[in-house]
Amino acid sequence: MVKLTGFNKIKTTVFISGNGSNLKHLIKFSKTKKSPISIDLIISNTSKAKGLRYANQFKIKKKIFNFKDSKISEKNILIYLKKKNINFICLAGFMKILSKKFIEKFGGIIINIHPSLLPKHKGLNTHEKAIINKDKFAGCTVHYVSEKLDSGRIIMQKKIKISVKDTSHSLAKKVLKKEHKLYSSSILKIFS
Ligand code: GRF
Repeated sequence: MVKLTGFNKIKTTVFISGNGSNLKHLIKFSKTKKSPISIDLIISNTSKAKGLRYANQFKIKKKIFNFKDSKISEKNILIYLKKKNINFICLAGFMKILSKKFIEKFGGIIINIHPSLLPKHKGLNTHEKAIINKDKFAGCTVHYVSEKLDSGRIIMQKKIKISVKDTSHSLAKKVLKKEHKLYSSSILKIFS
């Protein structure tokens, strides 16, 4: 278990593949006094990830590992994280699945945010699935990452009501807003 030592914050990396709105909120949270983490590195599998702009904006180191050969990329990430003393990984819209070996070898904590009320709607297109399924509620989940996709132990969830007017698009927008708060609350929960 990673523990806070003195006034040092837990060195953290965020993995992204897309817009990085969760990343942005995590960075803002990390700069508050109550945050147990500092974000020292942003990792992406693609240089096209829009969220990489936050690396420049907030002067955080960024690294791309292309995952063309996932074994090699994972190996290089582990070497790099060790070098940088990073022991906490937050996945935020990262579109690659990390192997069991990676999770074991890393040894620290890895968490993920998923836009559904897990165990419902694992994988992609969660909002479409919720609408098609005529669900009454949607939401988001922060969970530990295990070798099975979207199946690790749940840390926190936020539930919202689906209105009859909701489309997958409107629902995605509503849920994303909740995600931004839930991610930092979950980190506080883990380390308190
Ligand atoms: C979020 O809905 C997250 O739950 C999912 O991918 C989306 C990423 O959004 N895993 P963003 O890149 O943080 O804006």
